[in-house]
Amino acid sequence: LARGVSTPDLAGRHVVVSAGGTREPLDPVRFLGNRSSGKQGYALARTAAARGARVTLIEANTGLPDPAGVDVVRVGTAVQLREAVLKSAADADVVVMAAAVADFRPASYAEGKIKKKDGEEPAPIVLVRNPDILAEIGAERARPGQVIVGFAAETDDVLANGRAKLRRKGCDLLVVNEVGERKTFGSEENEAVILAADGGETPVPYGPKEALADTVWDLVVPALGSA
Ligand code: CTP
Ligand code: CA
Repeated sequence: LARGVSTPDLAGRHVVVSAGGTREPLDPVRFLGNRSSGKQGYALARTAAARGARVTLIEANTGLPDPAGVDVVRVGTAVQLREAVLKSAADADVVVMAAAVADFRPASYAEGKIKKKDGEEPAPIVLVRNPDILAEIGAERARPGQVIVGFAAETDDVLANGRAKLRRKGCDLLVVNEVGERKTFGSEENEAVILAADGGETPVPYGPKEALADTVWDLVVPALGSA
């Protein structure tokens, strides 16, 4: 197959991809966030569109331009991301959670900017748990045969942690990245192992995020029922 030419093996499919990182506001000017650039999620959206899918890209705080031919939904927080994912997942054939979702959010939001006071120590920030979107959609498929893909960035015991996470979240595939220098965050390239619920293990060598995205679709396509 010529480079840049894709087989339309996702034609007739609705694919939902989340990308970026959620921001959890403390007050009108501050938030808790993470280093996700959104590039891997955008690569998934672009490659799915190139393979013929109808794509809904739910993006959180990436600042990236809209990919051509993709429906983009913008969200800020984990709670907003959950709403958007549940809504689009209702008729999706595939849902890929590439977004970095904040595990916690501040327990309260200050309507006015938090000010420091002379001679006073800062108040601690109290956090509460955010909903686990992937676990929720993995526990109960919105449609029979829906394929659910998660991502995990790990620093230690990468494969063992990935295996346990795949099972815990009820997903069909889990893309596991080892976090390290020059890898993953903000970079144009990525290296990963894709774990499958049936025990499969597909290593993806260090390379463009587009190549990893295409390998994800190569594994998703045979898992889809007939269109
Ligand atoms: N995820 C999610 N909702 C959350 C947290 C994570 O949907 N509240 C999704 C991410 O989009 C990703 C996958 O779950 O696809 C794994 O995220 P990760 O942070 O690695 O997993 P956690 O269960 O939060 O575990 P950890 O304690 O290692 O952060
Ligand atoms: Ca997490």
